[in-house]
Formats: sequence, C-alpha cells, structure tokens
Amino acid sequence: MYAIAINQGQLDWVEHETPELGDTEVRIEVAWAGMNRADSMQRQGNYPPPPGASEIPGLEVSGVIGEVGQHVTQFKPGDRVCALLAGGGYAEHVIVSEQQVLPVPDSLSLRDAAAIPEVFATAWLNLFMEAKATPGERIVLHAGASSVGTAAIQLCKSLGNPCFVTAGSDEKIKACIELGAEDGANRHSEDLVERITQWGGADVVLDPVGGDYLTKNQQILNQDGRLVMIGVMGGTKETLDLATLLFKRQRVIGSTLRSRPEDQKGAILKEMQNYVWPRLENGEITPVIDREWPIEQAQEAMTYMESNGGMGKILLKVAER
Ligand SMILES: NC(=O)c1ccc[n+]([C@@H]2O[C@H](COP(=O)([O-])OP(=O)(O)OC[C@H]3O[C@@H](n4cnc5c(N)ncnc54)[C@H](OP(=O)(O)O)[C@@H]3O)[C@@H](O)[C@H]2O)c1
Repeated sequence: MYAIAINQGQLDWVEHETPELGDTEVRIEVAWAGMNRADSMQRQGNYPPPPGASEIPGLEVSGVIGEVGQHVTQFKPGDRVCALLAGGGYAEHVIVSEQQVLPVPDSLSLRDAAAIPEVFATAWLNLFMEAKATPGERIVLHAGASSVGTAAIQLCKSLGNPCFVTAGSDEKIKACIELGAEDGANRHSEDLVERITQWGGADVVLDPVGGDYLTKNQQILNQDGRLVMIGVMGGTKETLDLATLLFKRQRVIGSTLRSRPEDQKGAILKEMQNYVWPRLENGEITPVIDREWPIEQAQEAMTYMESNGGMGKILLKVAER
C-alpha cells in the first residue's frame, strides 16, 4: 500500500508494507484522513508514536470496511466508518481494533466523518469525562477557533454550558460566536484575565496552550474550578501558585487521548455514540472543515496548518470511496 513516511521532517507518499489484520481488528480502506497538531509534532520529531503504534502519522480516518478479523462482531465489509487511531491514518489501509471504530451516520459524508473522531473525542473526554462539567457551568476554551475548540463550542452550546473563547484574531472570535460561544477575547490585543473575569470567570478551562496561560488560568478559575491541560503550544514550564490552588480548591488535570489504551478509547467512543452521534445526525452539531488537500500534498497541508491561519479541520483525501 501507499502511505506517508516522514523523511527528515518531510512528508512523502511512498510504498509501505500493508499491515496484518488481527482477530479483533478491522481493515479500513481509507477515504479521508484528518490532520492534527500531533502529526505536526511527530513530523518535527517531538511526539513519537506510543509503543506498538504505527510509525505512519495520522490519528483519524473515514472509509469503508474492507475486511474483518474472525472475532469482530460489530462491523462487516462495506460498512461506512470512521476511526480514532494511535497512528497510521495517512495511508491507503488502516488496521484498528473494532473498539476504536464508529459507524458513519447516513446523513454524513465520509469527508465530514473524517473531521470528527479526534477533535470531538478530545472535547468530549476533557470537558465531560475529565472535568465533569455539569449544565450551566461556565467554560473557557483557549484556542477556541482551533479544530478542538470548534467542536467544544458546539458541545458546550448543545449541553447547556455558556462558553467564552480566546483566539488570535477578531474574525476568529466572531466566527466562534456564530458557532455558539457567548463571547471571546483576542489573545494578541486584549487582557484575557480582565475580560474573562468580567464575563463571570470559569468553572472549567480547556487549555491547549500552557506556558504563561497557567497563571491566567488560576486567576480566572472560580471556586472548585477545573483546569484541563491538553496541549503545550505556548510552553511546558511555568510556576503553579499553590496557595491559589488550595484556597480556590482548584484541580489541574493533564490529559492526552493518543496514549490511552484501546479499551479507554473504546469507552470514549461509546459515550460519543450515545451523546454526540444523535446531535450529528440531527444536524445540531457539524464538523467545521477549513480546507482539504490530496494526500500526496500532505506536506503543503501541514505547512498551512502550522501557519495558524485557518479555522477548523484540515483533511487529506486518500481515495474516492
Ligand atoms: N491532549 C489531547 O488529547 C489532544 C488531542 C487533540 C488536540 N490536542 C491539542 O489541542 C491543540 C489544538 O489542536 P487542533 O488540532 O484543534 O489545532 P488547530 O486546529 O491546528 O488550531 C490550533 C490553533 O491554536 C492557536 N495557537 C497556536 N499556537 C498558539 C499559542 N502559542 N498560544 C495560543 N494559541 C495558539 C492558533 O489559533 P489562534 O489564531 O486562535 O491563536 C491555531 O490556529 C493542540 O495543542 C493539540 O496538540 C490535544
């Protein structure tokens, strides 16, 4: 099969060995692959795949089941599916445990479906399973116009959580408000702590930035607030104010999706199927897609993603299915 290899930081579409199918796994003939920041970190040599995962980048795909292992119970050849992967998505074929696969609703195209697993699972996991946000709690989403952010805004709106975004431009903030955020602040030109405090503070903060956002997050968190750290785009080191942590009874949670074992990914997808899938089917929630490229031009697509100019998912088209 053909797949992307990382050669000295470049993404090349080259021949690979086709992976073998296990008893509880399915083989997906890939139609579309979603691009994620983790792929960019892997390209730069900063995010090796977890033990046992494919060296091929790519954390999510959509496509059609080509073959199933002998103990697979939920899928059959020909089913339209999407999957959450630990790697291997930038390829013509993907082998993955059936636990990490969901059926694509009839109302969704395979293109839309590829934009869902990683970012909706991240938003769902961290807001509602890790931070245990309850209806009415106020949520701050940093990098609100990111792919994870656009998924999180829609989930917050649908589940009754007012949300405030921070983003890099006024246009992005306007788009987030149209998507369902109550308000937002420009990280380059506004005082985030002042604006969020005026808005009412945060019971939950979803933060992919880190670095000096830690201090700001401790300031904006309300009593019993939870900070979920999902990324370090702004840096990995900062001082935690332990007095504030104690007196405001704050909780800081670190979370990655990729490194979780198969059964945990399966449990997250089950919740998605129960709570997110009906909302996708009735059109209340839609994946926000920015741009698409043919898989052969993955390098160009990644350069665009790394420029921070876009809003929403970047997709790679692998084949017509
Ligand atoms: N822990 C997990 O399980 C998990 C899973 C998925 C994603 N993530 C993380 O979530 C983050 C977003 O991923 P994504 O795929 O949604 O990204 P994306 O769609 O590519 O969007 C990322 C956006 O973040 C903003 N940004 C970049 N550098 C920043 C900085 N230093 N400070 C503040 N904002 C910055 C930029 O928007 P602005 O113009 O608005 O600044 C950029 O467009 C990444 O850090 C990713 O690694 C974590």
